[in-house]
Amino acid sequence: MIKRARLRLSFLALVVLASVAGCSSADPTNLESIVDGDYPQNSLNPAGPQARQIDDLFWMVFWIAVAVFVLVMLAMLVAIVRYRHREGRDRPVKQVHGNTRLEIVWTIIPALILAFIAVPTIAAIFDLRSPPEPGDNALEIEVIGHQWWWEFRYPEYGFSTANEMHIPAGRPVFLSMTSVDVIHSFWVPQLNGKRDVVPGRISNLTIQADAPGVYLGQCAEFCGLAHADMRHRVFAHDEADFEAWALAQAQPALIPTEGPAAGGWDTFQLVCAACHAVDGTEATAQFAPNLTHFASRTSFGGATFDNTEEHLRQWLRNPSAMKPMDPDRNDLASGRILGMPDFGLTEEQIDGLIALLDSLK
Ligand code: CUA
Repeated sequence: MIKRARLRLSFLALVVLASVAGCSSADPTNLESIVDGDYPQNSLNPAGPQARQIDDLFWMVFWIAVAVFVLVMLAMLVAIVRYRHREGRDRPVKQVHGNTRLEIVWTIIPALILAFIAVPTIAAIFDLRSPPEPGDNALEIEVIGHQWWWEFRYPEYGFSTANEMHIPAGRPVFLSMTSVDVIHSFWVPQLNGKRDVVPGRISNLTIQADAPGVYLGQCAEFCGLAHADMRHRVFAHDEADFEAWALAQAQPALIPTEGPAAGGWDTFQLVCAACHAVDGTEATAQFAPNLTHFASRTSFGGATFDNTEEHLRQWLRNPSAMKPMDPDRNDLASGRILGMPDFGLTEEQIDGLIALLDSLK
């Protein structure tokens, strides 16, 4: 099944490539390059060393379980056949009550199997969350869970983005994660196991992708209304493309001064700037996703909706109609934010905001 899906995906990728004239290499931000597209959150198809370590453990335990299953079934079949009732046998089979030697054996053997499995499992648990060595050339990203979106800060470059994490392929990425509200859990199944993101604490996780591509993930700890819409996309690039992306993201925004986008900026300052930041301007609030380079993202709304004009228009008309949120309980003073309110924007204001967002490349 998976092989066929891969074939189909490769064929699709070929068609896409062939149709893009002058394009010489696959674009890792193109969603056609979602790795294992039919099963993008398949942890049985690891795409990096950490995920592979988990996968290896899984298969070891799986085959031990298969061996136990086969042996137990064989023993049962032997007992069923050998001691079944036969025609002409009038006295009952000898009944046995308790056998100390057998009982000791079937207690010790499972205990040994469990001990055998525990050694590499516990070693892996510590290994997977250990910080990289200084020589590993790891990239550090700060992950902040919000109800209901992810903030990714790149301290080396000095910018913050939302829901979409870009990483260099083949290099460890060390995540320092926390939450501003409730417990979330960061999980990209093809890159590592899940790790809880807890307010007031820093938890760490190292992810690494073998090759460029798109890896999908989602919050894996129930965190309220829009838990299911708290997703994330990880884009792995080769080193040069990653560097180019990061340098572009670190640039301040170019605010349009004419046309509908300029009107959009007026609306933004009036309405949106209470929560959203645009770097290089006076909008610095951090309650909601930083929109400095919004147009460079493939998605929004917790990576649930593709970043298209139609989706944006729907969103600006009434965000809670697209994603379950509870903005009536927002409290800017305490920083408690539960989603974007419906601001009752006019269609003209919405046109302006869409033009503005489209200009924030
Ligand atoms: Cu955040 Cu579930």
